[in-house]
Amino acid sequence: MKFNWPAESIWEQIQPVWPDFTIDIVSQTDSTNTQLLQRIRSGQTAPVMLVAETQTAGRGRMGKAWASQAGDTLMFSLAAPLNPEQHGLSLVLGCAVITALDTIGQKLKIKWPNDIWYAQPDPNTGQNLWHKLVGILVETILYGRQRYAVIGIGININPPPQQSTYHTPPGYLKQLDPRWDAPSALACVAPHVAQAVYNFNTHGLAPWQQSFAQKDLLAGNRLYTSNGIQGTGAGIDLHGNLLIKTADGLKTISSGEVSVRPC
Ligand code: BTN
Repeated sequence: MKFNWPAESIWEQIQPVWPDFTIDIVSQTDSTNTQLLQRIRSGQTAPVMLVAETQTAGRGRMGKAWASQAGDTLMFSLAAPLNPEQHGLSLVLGCAVITALDTIGQKLKIKWPNDIWYAQPDPNTGQNLWHKLVGILVETILYGRQRYAVIGIGININPPPQQSTYHTPPGYLKQLDPRWDAPSALACVAPHVAQAVYNFNTHGLAPWQQSFAQKDLLAGNRLYTSNGIQGTGAGIDLHGNLLIKTADGLKTISSGEVSVRPC
């Protein structure tokens, strides 16, 4: 499959934010996140975006594999300096991706901390089912005295292999609008993501709180966490921690290694 990647236009939009920014596009790698972490470890710390048409060892949150097939998923990572005093980057990224996909953005919600889902009526039952469209993996690394974020984003374009143990099949962009493909999704999303990281380093989560509240899939819904908490989503606190109303009062969950699912 031949892709027409908008590398130059993306570079032109991001270079004013980071003058030493570069973008690389490869046909295959193990994992774009793994590659960018290795670059930073070897001292290559300038902001960089790596897009891969295929990944042989894609990684998801909590040590899970992220499966994909060439052309079915947009896969890219961005490595950039991170202000370690700010919290909630993954929520800001979710908001930025939804804003970037604006023609369909109003259908999309963020499932804390950083998945993007949408609801679609089940053709058999008419009941609304939630489908995961975007996965985001944020990893951080210290080099010298500076912390860096490596932000990996996977967006399903066509129906992908089952990526997780969720009960509903994954969602994909072409289901929402058949005009999307991987290059057009990258063209929309990449500049928004870079700008969001840059702004986050200065202003943190605060300017995004309202945007997140409008996109919060869990707010007001019954949910349970992988560490055994059940309750109702009650938004986030100032640091981006999830708030859950439970029978024993309000619980605060930090993103770490907890997964949350709507009941
Ligand atoms: C998740 O849903 O658990 C996060 C999935 C993140 C997948 C993307 S694809 C590009 C980047 N490279 C990886 O190996 N993972 C991320």
